[in-house]
Amino acid sequence: MSPQQPRKILVAPAWPYASGARHLGHVVGFAIPSDIYARYHRLRGNDVLMVSGTDEHGTPVMVAADREGVSPAEIAERYNRSIREDLRDLGITYDCFTRTTTENHARVTQDLFRTLYDHGCLIEQRTLGAFSATTGNTLPDRYIEGTCPICGYPRARGDQCDNCGNQLDPVDLINPRSIIDGTTPEFRETTHLFLNLPMFAERLRPWIESKTSWRPNVRNFSLALVDELKPRAMTRDIDWGIPVPVEGYPAETKRIYVWFDAVIGYLSASVECAANRGEPESWREWWQNDDSTHAYFMGKDNIVFHTVIWPSMLLCYGEGGEYGAGRGPLHLPDEVVASEFLRLGEEQFSASRGVGVNVRDVLERYDPDTVRYYLTAAGPETQDTEFTWAEFVRRNNDELLANWGNLVNRTLTNAYRNFGEVPRAGEPTDADRAVLAGVEAAFEVVGELIEQARFKAALAEAMRASTLANQYVSEQAPWVTIKTDRERAATVLNVALRCVDSLKVLFTPFLPFTSQRVHELLGYDDVLAGPLEFRDVTEPGGGTHTILTGDYTEWRMGWAPTDLAAGRKLREPSPLFKKLDPV
Ligand code: MF3
Ligand code: ZN
Repeated sequence: MSPQQPRKILVAPAWPYASGARHLGHVVGFAIPSDIYARYHRLRGNDVLMVSGTDEHGTPVMVAADREGVSPAEIAERYNRSIREDLRDLGITYDCFTRTTTENHARVTQDLFRTLYDHGCLIEQRTLGAFSATTGNTLPDRYIEGTCPICGYPRARGDQCDNCGNQLDPVDLINPRSIIDGTTPEFRETTHLFLNLPMFAERLRPWIESKTSWRPNVRNFSLALVDELKPRAMTRDIDWGIPVPVEGYPAETKRIYVWFDAVIGYLSASVECAANRGEPESWREWWQNDDSTHAYFMGKDNIVFHTVIWPSMLLCYGEGGEYGAGRGPLHLPDEVVASEFLRLGEEQFSASRGVGVNVRDVLERYDPDTVRYYLTAAGPETQDTEFTWAEFVRRNNDELLANWGNLVNRTLTNAYRNFGEVPRAGEPTDADRAVLAGVEAAFEVVGELIEQARFKAALAEAMRASTLANQYVSEQAPWVTIKTDRERAATVLNVALRCVDSLKVLFTPFLPFTSQRVHELLGYDDVLAGPLEFRDVTEPGGGTHTILTGDYTEWRMGWAPTDLAAGRKLREPSPLFKKLDPV
């Protein structure tokens, strides 16, 4: 095999709002799929840059601050910390998980805003804004509910109807009410700068049409949006957000719309990450490079921002501003991977409606790989899916533990007890060759599926390879053979251990914590999937913040069957997974 040129892969998970504890319905969309994809590409030897952070501006954070009686900055601080702890403990391998309240992010955002304004893509319009009758503050679109004027769904949100998928304006809702306190919002005249989306329709349509690799939900939904584009306000009547770098928009009363700055985070965090590494220009290798791949991951309610608004902003920016000038346009999204909703009972998982299962609560009770397995195997990849504890327990016990856990456990226990090391193999039989070939073949299949963002199928294929190895071990029963034919038992255990060693790699993107444990049990001393860490960053202006990152270049690479040498000392095994009590 000739070594391939490493590809530049930008992995761009959506930015969670720092407005409350995040629940499984959030991480199933942005975190788990993006991490599977990033870990796989790193194992393949590609240059991954995975950047994101907490989304800390705008009304979602202000609403939380009002509710808890503290300042927005305090809310942002509190939930930035708890969210990055959740993501660290879930093993989401960001190169840089930062925040939108950094100096760097404000500078990049203002540069884009100003450049778009100078390029004529941001136009001033008068409009009716929704304000809370109780506090007088702007009410975010998503905190207004009412009846959809198009399909009659009674719980449509101010920005969009989840039933018919149409984009809405809060003023369109019949019988609108604030979901915070149920009061009827007041609509008042105000002036904002609008992103003139209709001017991009003719470029967006063929671009989206060409994206045949996108899931049908993303592609079809986006095409439908392009047919009815209207200008959208990119400023708000609030005092928490990035100041508008245009005259007549004083920071006391107007700020940049949170979604405008959040999507820019992908670029600003890349710039930050490069600066943190002491290679301040290196972000361009991902952003001003036709050959790079940019993959975005999110829940389906984020689609419009990633397939229409962010691309329009990038198109308008062109080769302008501080970042584009003279260096070529910025790379448009290649893959936009959106998951559907995870439902708890009848209710959708939703922070604004207060329904869900917090990541922290779940991680206090269960191992991260059990959570990752469940969310990947049973998650809402292509359709809304109901979360149940019964299914969570069943998947852990009957699949994870019964298949992969059992294979590792009995293979390692038998080899450790009888040999203490990887035993030497004799002449292989057809069965030996077949099982090794079966596991080897899984690398291509699983890799392909991950590249296509078909994570559920990819995991099922890895599990199928584990089933093959399990069947082999059951049929060969080395614990019986050992009594009469120690040499044959040695060969079988050698083959089985090599299968486990390769399967450990296949499972790494999905189950990194247990793969690292298997790696250690097999006697290795290096790192396959290590711990993540927090690192403090100080900016030139004196501000400090903490990022979630890791030393991924120190980790073992290779997406291929491994070479487990006979004679390697094994470590004393203990079960990989805990059996959970049925609920
Ligand atoms: N904070 C948003 C949410 O949780 C997602 C922002 S994604 C970004 O729904 F692209 F805008 F950053
Ligand atoms: Zn509707």
